[in-house]
Amino acid sequence: MTPPPILRTLPDLRALTRGWHRQGETIGVVPTMGALHDGHLSLVEAAKARCDRVIVTIFVNPKQFNNPDDLARYPRTEEDDAAKLARFSIDALYAPGAEQIYPDGFATTVSVSGLTDVMEGAHRPGHFDGVATVCTKLFTQTSATDAFFGDKDFQQLQVVTRLARDLDLPITIHGCPTIRDIDGLALSSRNLLLSDRARTIAPRLFEEMEGIAEGLAKGQAFEELQRAAIARLERAGFTGVDYLDLRAADDLSQLDTPTRPARLFAAAWLAGVRLIDNIAV
Ligand code: PAF
Repeated sequence: MTPPPILRTLPDLRALTRGWHRQGETIGVVPTMGALHDGHLSLVEAAKARCDRVIVTIFVNPKQFNNPDDLARYPRTEEDDAAKLARFSIDALYAPGAEQIYPDGFATTVSVSGLTDVMEGAHRPGHFDGVATVCTKLFTQTSATDAFFGDKDFQQLQVVTRLARDLDLPITIHGCPTIRDIDGLALSSRNLLLSDRARTIAPRLFEEMEGIAEGLAKGQAFEELQRAAIARLERAGFTGVDYLDLRAADDLSQLDTPTRPARLFAAAWLAGVRLIDNIAV
């Protein structure tokens, strides 16, 4: 078990991938912002199973944070991350400085319309422009043939899939199942910011979403299920629910009954930490 080679610059990354391309090897990329957990590691596993070469990227992307405090307190744990990756024998950990991604004079924004108007896009202005721009950079810098994203950020997965298709990027985007803790809480780097007490309350979000899914399956009205779930979350200690929506899985349009493949999406605040989750219904 050896930690992966860590590359910091684009020329070093290109020098490595050039040979792989010459041999016709497939390259899987797992883009992350670090603070790796089992959800990320499941993406690495999926990439290893599918691709000849695997690159994990760690870059805390300032352009996708609409709140400077959120950026400042985002967990940064690179040494631990490299240690966690050791057992996967990946080919490289690309952890570039900001100047490798956004060099002086950088003036381009990749913006996906429509899908980004709702939910995270509506609550975090500029967030998806930042995600779309950095993913485009990471795809072209790594020259990956495949990229792996979690269903946990389902809207992000849809946005990245759309941009790859619209820009004819020669890459296949793969969505991988959300990984949950034993009590149902979806794994997220932000869970590290929860106090012990908040951590005991956090699984209520998933519980309420499952309750709504069961209610829908019995034919109950979404609006009533939604109203009752929000009230219970607030009583449990959540300080606000940004959204608890039923939406079509393909174009994210709002639904009041799951008449086509649909998902429930939630974002809620607990002790100053914003949790998001989604499930198929
Ligand atoms: O999901 C994340 O961690 C980030 O949004 C991503 C895809 C690495 C882009 O910075």
